[in-house]
Amino acid sequence: MAMPLNTPIQNWRGQKVWIVGASSGIGLALAQRLHDEGAQVLVSARRAEVLNAWCVDRKGTWAYPFDVSDAAGLAQQWALLVVEHGAPDVVVYAAGHYLPMRAEAFSYAEIAKHTDINYLGMARVLEVVIPAFLKLGKGHIALISSVAGYRGLPNALAYGPTKAAMSNLAEILYHDLHSRGIGVSLINPGFVETPLTAQNPYHMPALLKPSQAADEMLKGWAKGLFEIHFPKRFTLWLRWARWLPDSLYFYLLQKIAP
Ligand SMILES: NC(=O)c1ccc[n+]([C@@H]2O[C@H](COP(=O)([O-])OP(=O)(O)OC[C@H]3O[C@@H](n4cnc5c(N)ncnc54)[C@H](OP(=O)(O)O)[C@@H]3O)[C@@H](O)[C@H]2O)c1
Repeated sequence: MAMPLNTPIQNWRGQKVWIVGASSGIGLALAQRLHDEGAQVLVSARRAEVLNAWCVDRKGTWAYPFDVSDAAGLAQQWALLVVEHGAPDVVVYAAGHYLPMRAEAFSYAEIAKHTDINYLGMARVLEVVIPAFLKLGKGHIALISSVAGYRGLPNALAYGPTKAAMSNLAEILYHDLHSRGIGVSLINPGFVETPLTAQNPYHMPALLKPSQAADEMLKGWAKGLFEIHFPKRFTLWLRWARWLPDSLYFYLLQKIAP
């Protein structure tokens, strides 16, 4: 078996995990799964009422609502979180925005919104987390990107580039932080049934439930993987497509989504 690239995380009991984007979908399922495993779960997203309702009756969970577009709101909630719990052991960036877009409906405003939530929001979170982790010489950063970041996919004109940027950043971050005792993992899900994908008008192959996505992430962290991609029956094809010559790749896209 290959050497793990990160310190494997197999026991979640007592681990403090901060999930940004935990009010629905993959982030919420992950919060639930980690709580079941005995982690202390700190949840963030914009909808305070949803987060607070989830935390009621769940011992060891706390809500820190904010909008990732708002650096001041983030700084305020981060300061509060650190005072109340100290720095988290693991931070998961699960916040995301997706609107299908093709060239006929090209919109700068939508591209800016995707960039702000998916990429700049992540950068705002990293700006507060990285110094704290560097000071401690430990911690783990998990970024939920997408297989849409591998190569250009139809309908992902606004979304795909933000995920490609995120995945690229994760590799550089791993290089910089690994030797400093800090883990970095890149999560590349295929299709997962969440409010984000509910708007897709087409058939989504190998569609997973959010709880299955959470299971896959825990399996990947337990193995100390850098890239955690799932389900393999779908993602392996897309990973393979990265190596196709452009002419063949564009031909196949034309067949799939003219
Ligand atoms: N579902 C899939 O098939 C799939 C596949 C690959 C990758 N992903 C990625 O997985 C991540 C989770 O997506 P999901 O499918 O679980 O979607 P989702 O159910 O729509 O969850 C998105 C989360 O992001 C939060 N969020 C959105 N805008 C925010 C903002 N401005 N500030 C703070 N939080 C914000 C939402 O909470 P509030 O609305 O309460 O703010 C929600 O908790 C995303 O990064 C997505 O790109 C999903």
